[in-house]
Amino acid sequence: MLCGRRILLIIGGGIAAYKSLELIRAIRAEGGAVTPVLTAGGAAFVTPMSVSALAGAHVHTSLWDLTTEAEIGHIGLARAADLVVVCPATADLLARMAAGLADDLATTLLLATGTPVVAVPAMNVHMWDHPATRANVDTLRARGVTILEPDVGPMACGEHGPGRLPEVPAIMQALRTVLGRGGRLAGLHALVTAGPTHEPIDPVRYLANRSSGRQGFAIAGALATLGARVTLVAGPVALATPAGVCRVDVGTAREMLEAVDQALPADLAVMVAAVADWHVRPSAAKLKKDSGPPTLHLAANPDILAHVAQPGPRRPRLVVGFAAETDNLAAHARAKLARKGCDLIVANDVSGDVMGGSENEVLLVSAEGETALPRGPKAEVAARLVELFAERLGV
Ligand code: CTP
Repeated sequence: MLCGRRILLIIGGGIAAYKSLELIRAIRAEGGAVTPVLTAGGAAFVTPMSVSALAGAHVHTSLWDLTTEAEIGHIGLARAADLVVVCPATADLLARMAAGLADDLATTLLLATGTPVVAVPAMNVHMWDHPATRANVDTLRARGVTILEPDVGPMACGEHGPGRLPEVPAIMQALRTVLGRGGRLAGLHALVTAGPTHEPIDPVRYLANRSSGRQGFAIAGALATLGARVTLVAGPVALATPAGVCRVDVGTAREMLEAVDQALPADLAVMVAAVADWHVRPSAAKLKKDSGPPTLHLAANPDILAHVAQPGPRRPRLVVGFAAETDNLAAHARAKLARKGCDLIVANDVSGDVMGGSENEVLLVSAEGETALPRGPKAEVAARLVELFAERLGV
C-alpha cells in the first residue's frame, strides 16, 4: 500500500498527461502524498490548477521558482520523496534522462535524486519502436530506472500498437512493487502458477476450463509488492503481467510442470492454476466432421502441486494449493491437503461466479484448522493471503 508514502510525480508533455490526474487520485486514495512537477510540455496538456487541486499540494513548474528555492530547494525536493514517478514519460523526457540533461526542473530533479524512479512511457508506436528510444530505455533500465511496458492498442494519433499509457491500476501495482523492495518478503523467491491449461485435441481444438488467471496474477503481484522475487508460470490468459514479476507462459499441464521444475528452488510455492486433469494424445491433422464424433482417449496429467510438495531438499518451505470445489468445500479441502502434501489449501466455492469473475471468497485450510476470509475483490484477497503466507514463513 502507498499509505504514508511520498511520491514526486513528474508529468511530461503528452496527450496521456490527463491520465496522470487519475493517478494522483489513486495514489491519494491509498493514503499516499503527491508532490507534482509539471514540465512545460505537461502544462500544455493539463493545467497547474487541476494538478494542484487534485494533489492538494503546490505544483512545481520551474527551476527558477524563488519560493520553492527559499523553502526547500530543488535538490531538497528530489530528496523528500520515497519514489519519483515520471508519468507520462515521453520519448523526449526519456532521451533527456538517458543523456543526463538538467535543463529544466524535471530533468534536474531526476539527475539529483537518489530515490528509486519509475517511468511510465506513453508515445506514438513508431517513437516507442525507434532505435533511439529502445537504446534510451535500455540505458535507463541498466541504471536501475523501472520503465513500465506501454499498453498495446489504438492511440490518439489514430495508429495502433505499443505506446499507450498503462492503465492506472497497473501503474499503482508497479509503484507498490518498487516501494515494496526491502519489504517483508525481500530476498525470497516465490513461485506461482495461474490460469488454465490448454490440452490440444488437434491443431485447432483443445480441452480447457473457465479459469481467468486473475486470482493467481493478483497473488503474484501482491507477493512482488512485499518484495519477493516472483516467477509466475501462466497458462493461456489475457492478462497483463503484474509489475516486478517474471512471467513464463505455458500451454499444457506438462509444459507447466517443466516450467515449474525449472523455476525451483523457491522459498514459497503458490499453485493457483486450474490445471487440466487429463490430456489427449492430439491428432496431427485437424479432425474432420465427416469422420463422425471422435472418441477422446484421456490420460492423466502430472499433479504439479503434489510434485512440488514432495519431501526433499527442493521442497519450498511453504507450499500452498488451491481447491476449486462446488460442494463440501471444507471436507474436500482437508482431503486435498492430505493428498497433495501441501501446507495450506486455499479453498474456493466455484459453483457461483468466482471462476472468471472479479471477486473471491476463500476458506484457508491447514493442519491447524480453518479460517474464512471475507468476500472481496481478488486483489484484496491476494493482499490478505500473502500477508498470511509471510506470517507462516516467519518473516
Ligand atoms: N493441481 C496441480 N496439478 C494438477 C491438478 C491440480 O498442480 N494436475 C493443483 C492446483 O493448482 C490446485 C490444487 O492442485 O492448487 C487443486 O486443484 P483442483 O483442480 O481443485 O484439484 P484436483 O487435484 O484436480 O482434484 P479434483 O479434480 O478431484 O477436485
